[in-house]
Amino acid sequence: MPNSLRFLFFCSLLGYLPGRAQSVTFYQHVQPIVHANCTPCHRPGEAAPFSLITYDDVAKRAKFIKKVVSSRYMPPWKADDHYNSFANKRSLSEQDIHTLVTWIDAGVPKGKVKLEAEKALTERLNAGTAYKRKPDLTLRMKEAFVQKGDTKERFVMFKIPFELAQRANVEAIEFTSNNKKVIHHANYAIHPVEDAAIDLYNTVDMVDLSGTSQADYYQWVKYKKEMTYYGGWIPGASLETYPTDMGWEMPKRGIVLLTVHFGPSSQDAESINGVNIFFKSTPIKRKVKVISLGSGGIGEKDITPPFMLFANEVKTFTLRIGNNQPDVSLLYAWPHMHQLGKEFKAYATTAAGDTIRLVHVSEWDFRWQEIYRYRKPVLLPRGAVVHVEGTYDNTANNPMNPNDPPQMVLSEGNMRSDQEMLTLMLMYVVREENDDTLTYDWQ
Ligand code: HEC
Repeated sequence: MPNSLRFLFFCSLLGYLPGRAQSVTFYQHVQPIVHANCTPCHRPGEAAPFSLITYDDVAKRAKFIKKVVSSRYMPPWKADDHYNSFANKRSLSEQDIHTLVTWIDAGVPKGKVKLEAEKALTERLNAGTAYKRKPDLTLRMKEAFVQKGDTKERFVMFKIPFELAQRANVEAIEFTSNNKKVIHHANYAIHPVEDAAIDLYNTVDMVDLSGTSQADYYQWVKYKKEMTYYGGWIPGASLETYPTDMGWEMPKRGIVLLTVHFGPSSQDAESINGVNIFFKSTPIKRKVKVISLGSGGIGEKDITPPFMLFANEVKTFTLRIGNNQPDVSLLYAWPHMHQLGKEFKAYATTAAGDTIRLVHVSEWDFRWQEIYRYRKPVLLPRGAVVHVEGTYDNTANNPMNPNDPPQMVLSEGNMRSDQEMLTLMLMYVVREENDDTLTYDWQ
């Protein structure tokens, strides 16, 4: 045997060839990448059209997967990573892509079967959570809501009362639903109602904001004097967790007001929706708060120019809001626009002339939104001015334009997806001295 052939023979016995990595197998190399980056959406009950959990799920779509990961179409991640980087960044590294492609080109070898990861994931799926453990409390609607198959979208608010044995420290919260495919996005507000004289049950359980029962909403005003927390879900978005000594306190008694935006459906679709809450036994030293700027929140009237998008117009709107709170450290930034959105940018300027980058989505895509989680505390000092800039494309060139031909679009705060919004939500804690050097230990 010539030397070179002998060398090749030797290499193939060892399972590799010169210049090529050791053989890549599913259970050892591929599944961890797929479970971390794809299954948050590609699982039953989530937004993606098929599961990518098991060997078979992935192997039978290998060619397709090679295409979408090489082109970086999947996993979707729209934030401009050069502007600032986020802890929940969902993108494959060059190395990950290389591993997936090598595995696919090698004919999808299985390797030694290891089912632990699938088992753990299935357990969490059965518990209806994307978090690492089962929820301590699930507050959900008593009865399923039927989104009629009349191709109309609906905004429906659900009241979910709760009375707990005691207050509890919250480590994480997530929206939960047995049918996320019909849901466009959801928001939830947690309102404490300590006054036992206020009955939590003798009001309507549901209000269709897009229908005739709108006026019933006023029955709930008595519950809304205070708000403990406000969060939400959009397809693909990660759940909300907090670093070790941060979080908020779940009140003993009150209601969750859950607003669900159901997308148009051509078939009747049932869903039961709610929130999962995860408690922690450690104390909360720093309380997480939420503020909403722009449409539906603070400064709605200050959007400049007043929000009006004529047909065939590309236009930028801005909002400037001063921080009149003490210095705060940001945990999350959650930008929101609808289908006409093209670009979203938020930053703050200080009296000293510094610019603090908050978030930039250069190619806004309504389908891929995220609640962006900072790696380190982002300082928003007292007196800083937050700038929010949203550019919208209301021309026929925008494939997401819901109107053909384009129509005038407003932002009337009713959150319908054929209306627009320019909103930035910020989750934050009051600044502490050592925040300059802190890195959040996200759970
Ligand atoms: C944020 C949620 C999300 C994540 C994360 C995600 N996907 Fe998807 N994926 C979707 C949705 C929703 C669709 C269907 C809509 C579409 O194709 O745009 C989709 C479609 C696909 C398709 C079909 C594409 C087509 O043209 O029909 C493939 C293949 C795919 N995903 C693979 C992956 C792989 C591999 C990963 C991980 C590396 C991944 N996805 C991560 C949500 C996600």
